[in-house]
Amino acid sequence: MKKVWQECIECHSIYDADVIKYKCDCGGLLEVHIDLRSLDNISWDKFRSRKLNVWRYFELLPFEDSNNIISLDEGGTPLYKCEKLGKWMGAKDVYIKYEGMNPTGSFKDRGMCIGITKALKLRVKGVVCASTGNTAASLAAYSARAGIPCIVIVPKQIVAIGKLFQAMLYGAKVVRLDGTFDEALSLVWKVVEEVGAYLLNSINPWRLEGQKTVAFEIIDQLGKVPGYVALPVGNCGNIAAAWKGFKEMETVGLTDGTPSMVGIQAEGASPFVDLVREGYDTLRPVEMPNTIASAIRIGRPVNWKKALLAVKESDGLVAKVSDAEIIEAQRMLASLEGIGVEPAAAASVAGTKKLIDSGEIDANETIVCICTGNMLKDPNPELIKGLELLDVAPNLELIRDIFTSLIKQ
Ligand code: F0G
Repeated sequence: MKKVWQECIECHSIYDADVIKYKCDCGGLLEVHIDLRSLDNISWDKFRSRKLNVWRYFELLPFEDSNNIISLDEGGTPLYKCEKLGKWMGAKDVYIKYEGMNPTGSFKDRGMCIGITKALKLRVKGVVCASTGNTAASLAAYSARAGIPCIVIVPKQIVAIGKLFQAMLYGAKVVRLDGTFDEALSLVWKVVEEVGAYLLNSINPWRLEGQKTVAFEIIDQLGKVPGYVALPVGNCGNIAAAWKGFKEMETVGLTDGTPSMVGIQAEGASPFVDLVREGYDTLRPVEMPNTIASAIRIGRPVNWKKALLAVKESDGLVAKVSDAEIIEAQRMLASLEGIGVEPAAAASVAGTKKLIDSGEIDANETIVCICTGNMLKDPNPELIKGLELLDVAPNLELIRDIFTSLIKQ
């Protein structure tokens, strides 16, 4: 039997796997634990005999059996070697883990398949989340598949149109709040228990159990442990999840060593980066976060203590990038490699470049940037400003001239 429990990251109090809790009684964040020492039947051969997706690594997921699993075939996303992008960034061996290829176009699906399967096992009446867009889209899709009522709360100002479209079409009840993401999450949190709904923000440790599989896949696809793994940071869940995955691979003996985790935020929403770089002893929230990367426009990340552990334990790094740097990285990734990502996802590339330029990242190491969301989610006109678009009349000569001049160039 697989032993699974929940444990506080601060006081190490233990809670049963079926207790619904989002924080320890001491206020600490909870983490799901699997007794990894009791798993004696895992190997790369066994994993690789299965399809490449989240479920390939079933022994390392927190379920006993695969009955009643809710899945849309999430995970198994491409890992692209990017020579031209690497050259632009100033490094030799750069890869993009393209999470925009998940069923709803973001990494959230890795966690949501586990979160919704857990919700069914717990027989909850409905699921809820606050979201900057991607969590909402993913939760809406998975709850539709499971047949559970779903409510998502999104901040009015900033949700990318593609994400709103997804949540509505998947059939969620969409509530638009005249406030920030941080306000939305704190409001949802206050009512969730009272109304008997299940909260599926990244404060829910079961979701992170699915998200940790990105680490398993990176090692599986690369065939080794990279030197650095960079990713955008918002509510601070995903960096902690990926780090948990790398640690578990080492614990079960499938790898030697772990990468340095690199967390990137946008300049207008960088409380976590400031905490690490300035050495503050607690988070200083940003009341009105602002960046074109709306997915990570978060001023009060709930999982900051987990993310801090990830950066410290992995000998990691952090950096913040401007909106101009984010847009430039998004364009380079798209035009040099054909990989289309949303602004938040491009932040991992922009920030890694910055840390290579400053010498803080060793340019000779293997670097993996996780690009968390698909470009199609956020067709913001600001993002194509300055790019050429020719409007023409249906005139053969004109078309011939344009083609000739372009082909000659
Ligand atoms: N990248 C994208 C595309 C995201 O949507 C998010 C978070 C992150 C990065 C940051 O991940 O919060 O775990 O540090 N989006 C959440 C949402 C907040 O509601 O969709 P994190």
